Amino acid sequence: MLEKLGRNLPCWCGSGRKYKNCHAAFDERLQTARDAGHIVPKHKMIKNPQQIAKIKASCVVNIAVLDAVAAAIGPGMPTSEIDRIVYETTTRMGGIPAPLNYEGYPYSVCTSVNEQVCHGFPSDQVILREGDIVNVDCSTILDGYFSDSSRMFCIGEVSPEKKKLVQVTHECVQLGLEQVRPWGFLGDMGQAIDDHARANGYSVVRNIGGHGCGLEFHEDPFVSYVTRRGEDMMMAPGMIFTIEPMVNMGTWEHVTDPRNGWEVSTKDGLPSAQEEIMVLVTEDGHEVLSW
Ligand code: MF3
Ligand code: CO
Repeated sequence: MLEKLGRNLPCWCGSGRKYKNCHAAFDERLQTARDAGHIVPKHKMIKNPQQIAKIKASCVVNIAVLDAVAAAIGPGMPTSEIDRIVYETTTRMGGIPAPLNYEGYPYSVCTSVNEQVCHGFPSDQVILREGDIVNVDCSTILDGYFSDSSRMFCIGEVSPEKKKLVQVTHECVQLGLEQVRPWGFLGDMGQAIDDHARANGYSVVRNIGGHGCGLEFHEDPFVSYVTRRGEDMMMAPGMIFTIEPMVNMGTWEHVTDPRNGWEVSTKDGLPSAQEEIMVLVTEDGHEVLSW
């Protein structure tokens, strides 16, 4: 239902502007799309300019933390050292690592090595070796606002097969990003990613995906990277979500370590790669907030 707001009252988005000058036309557009049978975003998924500024500040810290990891990572480093760098850098910049104590998660960062798909625990026992590929997934709370992004790192010389997996995963994110525009569909992005992964003989993890982000760590909508063009939720200006496909060299199927309920690895033991960016849908396209 369209919110019945007086056109001269403050807009629901919290911008402080009058509804008629803010989201009135937006709501009409959404209603038309809804009448045509499309899934449209809820108002609470739409950030106002003040919120976007705060989320961007959080992203600045998150990027700096990943930069600090990038400057230090290399062969011989235990992944627990990455956890230490993330904790130190984030807190020194006035932030809090969002993963720490999130639903019982015991570390400041996820470090997923080789066949690990996501949520790898940093550990003294996991020492990065030449030939490893590792995803470092960082998330920050700054002043109550959330950011989330991850990068792949190749440790020394890695095999051509792994190098290609990392490269194609990067291309998947870029191709998905190109599809992000207002009044398009999340499925436009999902299909671009799935098509590119499949064309290279890879598979995209199906039931773990991305999410809205900013006011909370994980917000609606759930973002899939195996959806079809023209399907799934319509994108609208003010939405912020992650593009974070997990691309597997073999089967998309995965198993969760029963010892901790967190660490996810590929079922077939073949490598997996992931990159995560946070993107804002703007009036005329998109803006990448973190990478
Ligand atoms: N950073 C992950 C994501 O991209 C979430 C990790 S949940 C945690 O959504 F608890 F493991 F941090
Ligand atoms: Co995420």
